[in-house]
Amino acid sequence: MSRLRAGIIGVGNISGIYLKNLTSVFADRVELLGCADVIPDRATDAAREYQLPKTYAGPEEMLADDDIELVINLTIPNAHYSVCKAAIEAGKHVYVEKPLCIELDEANELLKAAAAKGVRVGGAPDTFLGAGIQTCRKLIEEGEIGTPVAATAFLAGHGHESWHPAPEFYYKKGGGPMFDMGPYYLTALVNLVGPVASVSGSTRITFPERTITSEPLAGTVITVDVPTHIAGTINFANGAIGTIITSFDIWAANLPRIEIYGSTGSISVPDPNTFGGPVRIRRSGDDEWTEVPLAFGHDENSRGLGVAELADAIATGRDHRASGTLTNHVLEIMHGFHLASDTGTRYALSSRGTQPALMPAEF
Ligand SMILES: NC(=O)c1ccc[n+]([C@@H]2O[C@H](COP(=O)([O-])OP(=O)(O)OC[C@H]3O[C@@H](n4cnc5c(N)ncnc54)[C@H](O)[C@@H]3O)[C@@H](O)[C@H]2O)c1
Repeated sequence: MSRLRAGIIGVGNISGIYLKNLTSVFADRVELLGCADVIPDRATDAAREYQLPKTYAGPEEMLADDDIELVINLTIPNAHYSVCKAAIEAGKHVYVEKPLCIELDEANELLKAAAAKGVRVGGAPDTFLGAGIQTCRKLIEEGEIGTPVAATAFLAGHGHESWHPAPEFYYKKGGGPMFDMGPYYLTALVNLVGPVASVSGSTRITFPERTITSEPLAGTVITVDVPTHIAGTINFANGAIGTIITSFDIWAANLPRIEIYGSTGSISVPDPNTFGGPVRIRRSGDDEWTEVPLAFGHDENSRGLGVAELADAIATGRDHRASGTLTNHVLEIMHGFHLASDTGTRYALSSRGTQPALMPAEF
C-alpha cells in the first residue's frame, strides 16, 4: 500500500506522541516528511530527533511543498481554522487536533472548502478508534445490553495550570473543559449511541482568575474568559438520553467517566482520553460487573491512529472514521450546551453527524 506523505504544523506539547507513533507504529501507512512551527527551532529539533527527511523554515514553506499530501495541524485551538484553511487552499488533506476550530461558521467553511478542493478533513480525538471504546461498541452492536436508552459522561477536574507549560489557552475562547475535554466524551458517545438531535445546558465561571503553578510561568495570573463548569442533557436522534458534566472547578469526585445504559444491561466505558480499558458489563440479573477482554488492537497511547486510518481510507477509497463530519457535529454539540445556557432554551442541531462504522479487528 502506498503511504500518505504528511507534515506536522505545530510542534508543542502534544506533538511528541504523534512524531513517535507516526514514525514507528503507523509508518506503514504514513510517511512523515517534516514539521513546521512559528517557533522554527521547535521544528528543527523535532526533525533532527525523529530523523525526518525534510526541514521547513515555517508553515508556508511546508504548504508550498508538492510532496506534502496531508497536513497534521497540532497548533492551539485558535490557530486551527487559519492553518486548516491555508492547508486546504494549498490542496492538502488536513487532520486537526481537537476541537476542529472555534466557531461553527468557520467549521462549515472548512468543510465546504475541502469538498470544493476534493480533499479530506479529519480530526481528533482518535481515542474512540482504540481497543477500549471499540470493544464497547462491539458489545452494543452484538446486542449485549439491548437497545441503548441512556448514557452519562463526566469529566471532573481542576484544570491544566498545575502541569501544562503554557495553559492560558485553556481559559480563553475555544478553551474551557467542554471544548478541551468534551471532544473525547462526545465523540465516544456519538460513536457508541449515535448522532445527537438537540441539547440543553447550564454553565458557570466559578474562579474568574487562576494562577499558574507549573513552570516556566508559575505565578502568572490568567483571566478566565469561558465557562469552566458545564452541565448538559443530550437527546440522541434515536431517542436515547444523555447527561454530561465537564468541569475544571471540581477538586475531587467519584463519578464514572462514561456509562451506557441499555434495555437489558449497562456498560462501563473506559476513560475516553485513553485508548485501552477497562471495559465492564453488567446485564440484568447479574450480581456484579464483569470485565470484558479487549477485542481490538491499540490499547496504548496511539495518538495518530486516526491519521493512519485516514491514510488507509484514502488509499482504499472509503470514508474515514475520525472525519470532519464527526468533529463538526461534536463542535456543534459543544456550542449547543453554551448557547442553550445563554438563551435559556433547548438547542436543536443543524449538523446531522455520523456514527462511524466499527473498526475491523485486524486494523
Ligand atoms: N497537551 C496535551 O496534553 C493535549 C492532549 C490532547 C490534545 N491536545 C490538543 O493539541 C493541540 C495543541 O496543544 P499543545 O498542548 O501541544 O499546545 P502547545 O501550546 O504546547 O503547542 C502548540 C504549538 O503550535 C505552535 N503554533 C501556534 N500557532 C501556530 C501557527 N499559526 N502556525 C504554526 N504553529 C503554530 C506553537 O508555537 C506551539 O509550538 C490543541 O488543540 C490541544 O487541544 C493537547
